[in-house]
Amino acid sequence: MPLDTMICLGIESTAHTFGVGIMDGEEVLSNVTDMYIPSKGGIHPREAAEHHSKVCDKVLDRALEEAGIGKEEIDLVAFSRGPGMPPCLRTGAVFARSLALSLDVPIVGVNHCIAHIEIGKLKTGAEDPVTLYVSGGNTQVIALSKGKYRVFGEVLDTPVGNALDKFGREAGLEHPGGPKVEKLASRGSKYIELPYSVKGMDMSFSGLMTEAVRKLDSEKKEDVCYSLQETMFAMLTEAVERAMAHAGKNEVLLTGGVAANRRLQEMLETMCRERNAEFYTVPHELAGDNGTMMAWLGILKYRSTGADDLEETGFIQNWRTDEVDVTWTE
Ligand code: ATP
Ligand code: FE2
Repeated sequence: MPLDTMICLGIESTAHTFGVGIMDGEEVLSNVTDMYIPSKGGIHPREAAEHHSKVCDKVLDRALEEAGIGKEEIDLVAFSRGPGMPPCLRTGAVFARSLALSLDVPIVGVNHCIAHIEIGKLKTGAEDPVTLYVSGGNTQVIALSKGKYRVFGEVLDTPVGNALDKFGREAGLEHPGGPKVEKLASRGSKYIELPYSVKGMDMSFSGLMTEAVRKLDSEKKEDVCYSLQETMFAMLTEAVERAMAHAGKNEVLLTGGVAANRRLQEMLETMCRERNAEFYTVPHELAGDNGTMMAWLGILKYRSTGADDLEETGFIQNWRTDEVDVTWTE
């Protein structure tokens, strides 16, 4: 079968989101997601997994319907094998295996973080970027070097999205806090000094968050949100700029749920312009967690190294980005 017309169904289940997406070669046929929203506080892995097993059949049906294809047209099943929360990963892996078995098609397990990068490259045209992957559970600065996606920098404590959500809870904002903080920040104007901590290309946000929460007692909420964003995003921009210099890259790719933030986009774009580099943001519907990016990385991986053995499709909880051989780029 010509691989560029291969239909791959991808499954995402690493954390909050259960997603099924279908790609026909480079074309997105569908992208359906269903998100578990914790009733209160943070995510409970077991509850999230229960959510995923409750919605999986429905999400699959909707993805097929949106794609306008029948199950029997699927040539390949791909799923997010890690990193993530074990109960969630297990649910996705079991679902993927039983689907591949019942359809009698090959299966490939793919790395969640790398899927974010590859769908981003496909949709934006970025060729060899420094990727800033910022979501609830991740904050990484990644670039391809000697056949692997190397993590040049990452957060040492709380990831950006999670930090914004936690701050949001303290500030009495609805979950998820990220978008609400952005909205309030756009009405703030006074810069309040907050702890700034970048070490090399690694970042730490916990001191900044604690201080920002403390400032809520004495300052306007809008100004605290504004200052929080300015400080956090300046840290991210500094780390990305340093990675570009180290790795010798002149493109930046922004992805993950936090990529929706306009101020973050603007700061990275300005930095890129000053360096004569290109800046790309992954389209919103494909920047958050989704199954479509699993389908695309599934096709890339299958093209270069073929399918996985069914017996070797167990999930990998702490699957690091730089453990994967990138065999599909020239
Ligand atoms: P992952 O498993 O990759 O860590 P996730 O489960 O956190 O992903 P995403 O959809 O990638 O899911 O990201 C959700 C996060 O993005 C939340 O923390 C949310 O607050 C944040 N977010 C969404 N929109 C914005 C925004 N406009 N500004 C800042 N943060 C945002
Ligand atoms: Fe993600």
